[in-house]
Amino acid sequence: MTHVSHPIGVFDSGIGGLSILQALRVELPAEAFVYVADSGHAPYGERDALHVIGRSQTITRHLLAQHHIKALVVACNTATAAAIHLLRQQYPDLPIVGVEPALKPAAQLSRTRRVGVMATRGTLESDKFRALLETLQGQADFILQPCDGLADAIERQDAIKTEALCADYTMAIGQFGHEPGQIDTLVLGCTHYPFATTELRALLGPQVQLIDSGAPVARQTQRLLRSHNALAASPTPASLQLYATGYPERLQAAASHWLQLSQPVQTLST
Ligand code: DGL
Repeated sequence: MTHVSHPIGVFDSGIGGLSILQALRVELPAEAFVYVADSGHAPYGERDALHVIGRSQTITRHLLAQHHIKALVVACNTATAAAIHLLRQQYPDLPIVGVEPALKPAAQLSRTRRVGVMATRGTLESDKFRALLETLQGQADFILQPCDGLADAIERQDAIKTEALCADYTMAIGQFGHEPGQIDTLVLGCTHYPFATTELRALLGPQVQLIDSGAPVARQTQRLLRSHNALAASPTPASLQLYATGYPERLQAAASHWLQLSQPVQTLST
């Protein structure tokens, strides 16, 4: 039996989901969260879907059994694309929110109607992504760029490699700018990529719009909890726990650097 004071489970292949957790904590300050970084089994984006499905199921099972989560946020585009339909089938009573590249808001914001999309290979090759793209036919030109290695470089907090890959991939996408035919909007379709915003801004300048999914996911989580009468009544004392299945120091450093969190990261051997 779950209770409104139970935590919300959030997971990603690694530190990327912190970009979603950050938005969740702003939108839902009274909620408790358990965050799992599956860094011992990352990256997901260049692995086959079965690996990602298996890991998503294992982590969800663990969050339910050990933390009695009242809702789940799959804070990873790749895992959402590969596994969310299966998780929903398996746990029909659990409110589950996923992340997908924010193509629709990007199409609405773009003036030149040319939108770059950076995401993992796994996301871009998924049926779910293809279906999303189809719903937006004719609304904008989307230039899709699989970014092999970028999530991993961000995960390792390797600034030199992150910068080099951002340069390669943005160059491959094409000419950014505000003139007709140029790309004025870039979708960050992997939850790791907001942590490369500094590098991307330096390459693209201040005018290009960078679109991530943090705020919409947080709002959707709030809506879903409200519709289940599952919003927390008041802040709970232990409101955040951080776990990593490998390299806990990476999550520790990222949580401290990006979210100013000092909670100790615990190692999870699931
Ligand atoms: N952060 C994940 C995503 O949103 C996956 C990164 C990876 O492990 O490749 O797609």
